Amino acid sequence: MKKLLITISALMSFSLSAAEAGLTFPDDDLPVLSDDKLIVSQQRGMQVYMNNCMGCHALSFQRYKRTSTDLKIPENVMMENMVFGDEKIGELMTNNMIKEAAANWFGAAPPDLSLISRSRGTKWLYNYMRGFYIDDTRTYGVNNAVFKDVGMPHVLESMQGLQDKSEKVKGLENDIAYAQADLAAANKLLEEGGNAAEAKKTIKAAAKTIEDAEAELIKLSAAGEYFVIVKEGQLNPQEFDTAMADLVNFLDYIGEPIKRERKRLGVWVLLFILGFGILAYYMKKEYWKDIH
Ligand code: HEC
Repeated sequence: MKKLLITISALMSFSLSAAEAGLTFPDDDLPVLSDDKLIVSQQRGMQVYMNNCMGCHALSFQRYKRTSTDLKIPENVMMENMVFGDEKIGELMTNNMIKEAAANWFGAAPPDLSLISRSRGTKWLYNYMRGFYIDDTRTYGVNNAVFKDVGMPHVLESMQGLQDKSEKVKGLENDIAYAQADLAAANKLLEEGGNAAEAKKTIKAAAKTIEDAEAELIKLSAAGEYFVIVKEGQLNPQEFDTAMADLVNFLDYIGEPIKRERKRLGVWVLLFILGFGILAYYMKKEYWKDIH
């Protein structure tokens, strides 16, 4: 029993430290929408996608026709307003980007996004799309707080404007960087057999600084004060968040076009199992009546 408890607590502390290591901001949940609202959101998301993403990221597992049917967008409306080449409704949603050339321009080729909602998850995508901020050291002048040093430019700058980390956030990140340097130095001192008491004191203090600063960052992020807009775009922050939720809902649909149908069917399957279970129970009773 004791062993089991030790194992469990070890596992728990491992998962905690793993979560801490992956601390990134923004860290907001994708708002959940119900059926009709979800379809409207996915329709709007498709529009954002076709206008801003399709040139670089194909969705080559999916056909226009299927998308038109599932998202209830009439075929002619879709082909006239969302598809810019001479593609046909029955074709796959591909683009003409040449992978090698793109890899040269951006450092990495833009991947096909057919399955991105499955591999990254919708929460990650929602935060990634809202995570571009000014960073003069990068080729395109922006970095991404969720995907560090990503090769993708901030393609939605005209919509969102430009954001920077707030002064408070920059200060806290500095504190963390210094504390991490202290930690490394103290650990080295320990290894080399230096003053152990001194080193342990430093380690404790640095760990506390990091913990406090991270807690503060989480608070700032939750209060929506992690970033500040330094150049306004066409949308205000709430409108931009909604547009990004739409975009992610569309990618979620693309990642599993059968999802709605699967959920609908699932209910009937469970009802059938329940009904059949009851029937089977009474049949069993009937058959065994004479034996007992
Ligand atoms: C100018 C080309 C370009 C456009 C337009 C573009 N991207 Fe990208 N995107 C890239 C590149 C290049 C990468 C790969 C970056 C890397 O791996 O460093 C990327 C990466 C991504 C990733 C991360 C993929 C991964 O590896 O997990 C996502 C998600 C993404 N883009 C979504 C979008 C969305 C949504 C849009 C439309 C709003 C968009 N991109 C528009 C070039 C582009």
